[in-house]
Amino acid sequence: MHIRPRRNRRSAAIRALVRETSLSPADFIQPLFVHEGTEDVPIGSMPGCTRWSLAGLVAEAREVFDAGVPAVVLFPAIAETLKTPGAEEAWNPEGLVPRAIQALKEALPELCVITDVALDPYNSDGHDGLVEKNARGELRILNDETVGALCEQALSHARAGADIVSPSDMMDGRVGAIRQVLDEEGFEEVAILSYSAKFASAYYGPFRGALDSAPKAGDKKTYQMDPGNAREAIREVGLDEGEGADMVMVKPAGPYLDIIARVRETTVLPVAAYQVSGEYLMIESAAAAGWIDGKAAALESLTGIKRAGADMILTYYAKRAAGWLRE
Ligand code: PBG
Repeated sequence: MHIRPRRNRRSAAIRALVRETSLSPADFIQPLFVHEGTEDVPIGSMPGCTRWSLAGLVAEAREVFDAGVPAVVLFPAIAETLKTPGAEEAWNPEGLVPRAIQALKEALPELCVITDVALDPYNSDGHDGLVEKNARGELRILNDETVGALCEQALSHARAGADIVSPSDMMDGRVGAIRQVLDEEGFEEVAILSYSAKFASAYYGPFRGALDSAPKAGDKKTYQMDPGNAREAIREVGLDEGEGADMVMVKPAGPYLDIIARVRETTVLPVAAYQVSGEYLMIESAAAAGWIDGKAAALESLTGIKRAGADMILTYYAKRAAGWLRE
């Protein structure tokens, strides 16, 4: 036998030389939950995650940034009393997210602050878009009216100092509309990271618990993508690219590695992937039960997502994984 692939795996030194994909803390984006309270509260549906007060948020973001993670993405838990059918709180300039952005940019000007643009935390229906109910009680998610609301929301984030706005709602045409509004208002430097291929996934369940944002009726299948579809993801990415997206996203990540790989081949834009709450908790719960090595499984999962073609990964492991990579 002349050809022995195992020669390239013989020692840790050789394996390091031939390794094709390596993780770095700079690959990660840390999702952070924020609420109006003054306490930092552990999230029941997402063990290991916290609903931060504004002060707690800033302290945590500092730790994240010091660990080498360049960016955070904010998710607000909004008081039930502020949720309305029109989701007006989503663009309140004194709302929780604008204040969180300001606090973060003041304390950590070099941290990249990304915001989620979608109505579900603010809307009494729990949908990402505005809802119309017909006489039979059937729901319709209003696309074009929602896009107008999303533009207001994105603008309020830009005014507060967000570096990147990230529409996660899956309405048609929102990237172009947001780009136009941002440019008209002088925010041509604020980037758009579009959730281009966001699938209607069971893996979001724990996240909706974290924000109490589950839909009150119906599901998200008329706007989020069908898990069986790959070509449609390419179509969505192409549209968002044409409308001016600066970066595109595939979500969830682990069950959609083929989509990440195909998107990587069809766009030259940076590709993000979101290792979502359910993926995180599958690893965490198996590790807590003693069934798998959580650290090894988390790093392997993140490596797989990067190997598939992701340039950046939104992950609840961001700070912890950055620490592990330093060990
Ligand atoms: C909502 C939004 C969701 C997530 C991020 N933004 C939930 C949903 O679409 O229902 C999920 C993130 C996760 O599960 O970790 N716009």
